[in-house]
Parts: sequence; C-alpha cells; structure tokens
Amino acid sequence: MAAAALTREGGEDAFRRLFRFYRQRDASDLRGVVDFSVPGGQPSGPAVAAAVQSGAHLKAAAIVVFRSQLSISSVSDQDAYRAGLQPVSQWKAYGLNGYPGFIFIPNPFLPGCQRHWVKQCLKLYPQKPNVCNLDLHMAPEKTIDLWGQSKEQLKRKGSSKGEPRSLLEKLRWVTLGYHYNWDTKKYSANHHTPFPSDLAFLSEQVAAACGFRGFQAQAGILNYYHFDSSLGIHVDESELDHSRPLLSFSFGQSSIFLLGGLRREEAPTAMFMHSGDIMVMSGFSRLLYHAVPRVLPNPEGTALPSCLDQALASDLPVGSVVEHSSDEDWQVCAKYLQSSRINMTIRQVLAEGQKFPEESGTNRKGQAPSEESHRKENSRTKRHKPNTDS
Ligand code: OGA
Ligand code: MN
Repeated sequence: MAAAALTREGGEDAFRRLFRFYRQRDASDLRGVVDFSVPGGQPSGPAVAAAVQSGAHLKAAAIVVFRSQLSISSVSDQDAYRAGLQPVSQWKAYGLNGYPGFIFIPNPFLPGCQRHWVKQCLKLYPQKPNVCNLDLHMAPEKTIDLWGQSKEQLKRKGSSKGEPRSLLEKLRWVTLGYHYNWDTKKYSANHHTPFPSDLAFLSEQVAAACGFRGFQAQAGILNYYHFDSSLGIHVDESELDHSRPLLSFSFGQSSIFLLGGLRREEAPTAMFMHSGDIMVMSGFSRLLYHAVPRVLPNPEGTALPSCLDQALASDLPVGSVVEHSSDEDWQVCAKYLQSSRINMTIRQVLAEGQKFPEESGTNRKGQAPSEESHRKENSRTKRHKPNTDS
C-alpha cells in the first residue's frame, strides 16, 4: 500500500478522501473501479494515476481479483430455484486480495426474479410492523400505505427533476426483524417483529452457498437511494455474533462501493455494484469500514438494466418464495427504479442459543429515536445524506 494512503492530510483520513473523490466523479472517470461483471474486471492504470494526481491517493498497488470457491453441495438446485436463484454451480464468485472473507457474486438471480425482491422492498416490507425513516417524524396513520399513496404520483411522474417526491421516494431505510436503533446503535430483545420468511429463505441459501450453513436472518436494513444519495463511512458491528456473515443484495441502478480496512486511515478499494449483485462480508472482512459514495446510472445506459426486463416464467417451482406480480405493480417499481437503487443488508444478530445481555441503566423501551442522531459523525452514521461532505 502506498505510504501516502496511510497518512492523514489536513485531518482527513484516506477513506474520507476517497469517499469525496468518488462522490464527485462523473461516470466517465471511473476506470479505477473494480467491475466484477466484466471479465478481468480490474481497473486500468490511467484512472488510478488520475486519482493519485488529484490527491485522492488510490491504492497504487494492483487490485487482485480471484475466483472464489462456493459450497455447491450445500444448496440443492431446487432450493436455489425456490429462492429465485440460478443453481449455485452456475454462479461466479470472486474474492479480493487482502480482504479474506469478502465474496462478490455478480447477479446470480434467475430471469424475472429480481422483480420480486424489488416489489417486496417497495410494497410490502415498508409496511407495519416494520420500521422506516418516515416513522420518525410522521404520524403513524400517514405511513400505513406508502405504496398506495405514491403509486399514481409515481406513474404520472415525468423525468424533470423539479417534481415533488412521492412518499415512497422519501423512503430512506426500513428495518426488519430486530430493529436497529440508530440512537443507541443497538438491537434489543424488546424491539423485534417477525422477519419476512421469503427474505430469510433467500438469505439462508446465499449464506449456505458461501459456506455458512445454519445462518439465521434476524435483522435487515433496507436502504433506498437516488442519484443524489450516499451512505457514509461505517462498520456494522452492532450484531453480537461477528462470526456470521453480512449479506448485501442490490437492485436497480448501480453504485460505487468502497471497502476499506480496520482503520479509516487505510485507503479503500472501489468496486461497482450492479442490479442483482450479492456481496458477502465475513471473517476478516466482516468488520471492515465501508461506504457507498455514489449511485450511478446502470452501465448499459438504458432506463433500467436489462436483467430487469424479463418477467417471471409462468411456471414457478413448488415451494417458490418468489411470486408473480401484476403488470401494474411492476410498472410502479420500474418507474421508481429509473432513478433509484435498493440495497438489502441481512444480518444474524445472535449466535445460536445466545440471548441479549440484560439492559443496564435506564429502560430504553419506548424511546423514540431522532432523525438527527443517525446523521452524527462516526460509526454507521450520516446515512444517505446527499451533497454534503462525509
Ligand atoms: C449497510 C450498507 C451498503 C449498500 O446497510 O450497512 O453498508 O450497498 N449498505 O447500500
Ligand atoms: Mn454496512
């Protein structure tokens, strides 16, 4: 690693400097970003040089991508199909030198199946009893049916930027299962609702394919992005069992993901995440700093990436958790995704048989988190704060 990448300049650490660099780049200047969806997706020299010249101090050492082994026998083809995934033997999986436990799987979904997860993220998962950012400053009756309140407005919407955002477009995050508390940065036994069974099934298959049999999806954070959104530099360390992986699923427009080190002084590696891509952070990579500085139009240059074009096959396997959706529902989702990206991150919070420690001090039950607190500096904060320095 270049020595410059480890030094602080003007109080700004290497991660922050690169975060700012990528947040400001337009799509034509991103040759330094690893793209796992193109063969030999390593970045080419000139962009690295350009970034270094501009003071961004990209990792000058070559970024080495290698094929990663999956546990093919852990997931039957039938279970993969039920989750809307190709047989694991067909997946490609990659690792990155210097990041043991990091696994990147470019879109392993079957044609039409991503649409199910997109619809769940927009129509079903934001519903009560799940929790979303809008609950923090809106009366409960106003957030009961975001989909119903937004769909006509969304369908009518042109492409001009000035139009007001529908409620659905104001959605920033939804929490599932053990609801992450942005104030205390903790999960707790008394703030839990049932985790969606379809998403738990998908997560179990992906985790098993990556060598983590018995993974339990206990908490989810769904992130909703537009072209002006970013996700600040953070580590996901609130889960009590760090031996279990963190799973990340991306849909819609693309983004740049930065994967750093155990300290913010270490320069991160930049990679694209496209629609359908799955990322697994486990082992050494489970507690690394990461961020999403930028959301970008999909590389095909079309309104939606072509992997979202196809509808679901008419015959679904017995026990499929993926369901058909109506044309009307998909129209709304498609309109939303023209300028948006959705990311689902799934976590196991507790080890098998583990319980939450008794809460000490004040009883936090019923304490409402404030919108402000998750915008404060450090840890996984300042989520989706557009157009300001991280
Ligand atoms: C998270 C996260 C990354 C993404 O929710 O913790 O890191 O791609 N998300 O949205
Ligand atoms: Mn994270």
